[in-house]
Amino acid sequence: GLEEVLRRIMETASLNDLQEVKARYLGKQGLVTSLMKNIKEIPPEKRKEYGREVNELKNSIEEAIDNRKNELEELGRLAREGAERPDFTVPGKRRDIGSYHLITQVMEEVQDIWVSMGFEVTTGPEIETSYYNFEALNTPEWHPARDMHDTFYTCDGQLLRTHTSPVQIRVMESRKPPLAIFSPGTCYRKDTPDTTHLPMFHQFEVLLVDRGTSVSHLKGTLNHFAKRLFGADRRIRLRPSFFPFTEPSFEVDVSCGICGGQGCRSCRGSGWLEILGAGMVHPNVFRNVGYDPEIWSGFALGTGLERIAMLKYDLEDIRDLLRNDRRFLKGYRRAI
Ligand code: PHE
Repeated sequence: GLEEVLRRIMETASLNDLQEVKARYLGKQGLVTSLMKNIKEIPPEKRKEYGREVNELKNSIEEAIDNRKNELEELGRLAREGAERPDFTVPGKRRDIGSYHLITQVMEEVQDIWVSMGFEVTTGPEIETSYYNFEALNTPEWHPARDMHDTFYTCDGQLLRTHTSPVQIRVMESRKPPLAIFSPGTCYRKDTPDTTHLPMFHQFEVLLVDRGTSVSHLKGTLNHFAKRLFGADRRIRLRPSFFPFTEPSFEVDVSCGICGGQGCRSCRGSGWLEILGAGMVHPNVFRNVGYDPEIWSGFALGTGLERIAMLKYDLEDIRDLLRNDRRFLKGYRRAI
């Protein structure tokens, strides 16, 4: 009877289910259709009445199916929303917070020191011409650094800068002295990676040009820098050295922080750690940028950031900086 049909409809659990039930009752082979076909067997005087009843039955079924369809759709919507709604009772997950890379941290620390002394931050391109990287810096054709084995040359005759010193030239070309700049950046050399070498590394460059500067200005500035970076108890010393773009030139050492200069394993017994190269700007470099070396003098210095980071944090292998081992990086976490 109709009741049985309506119950079946109400009991459907899904839209698919409902579709099947609908076919069973209203489809071409369905109950209502076959009742309609039966009309031929009904006596003519009762056919009108019969037809009306079958129509009512059909309408009731259609209505019930429609209602159930709306119900099922609504239930589906609620279930989906329920699944999307956050459950605030679930315990929170501890999220690991990232941190700046150690090189970035040391770079910023070094930069802050120079900026606080009045040096201005300037940068230059990593792809350079041989002129800026070598010639303008008084580095002759025969200098070993210019060898194909030491420098990455690009196919269009340029090169990847081997140091940040070309920034000195670019800045001096574009300005009038006096000036005081700090130039951080990435540099490249054809080195096979080992505990102290990487083919891609970072340097910073410092250049000061003024009237009447001398080695004592350089030394006093370096002394201040080393104490700020490594600690007030540290000392520096200058050893004679050679760079084509400075004269005189020096290697600069800082006293070992572990033995206090007595000599230990960390400083290989010498009591000193080499931190940078420096010197008084060579007159030829001034001539190359159109500064008169009779009027202007200055000092320059430069070094590898990785080297400074290794000394400051007593690292054994420069390659650890690139392994992205989170246990290593987390050891030097600083709040962002
Ligand atoms: N450019 C030198 C280097 O890469 C470092 C340096 C810079 C030395 C400035 C003297 C003056 O080793």
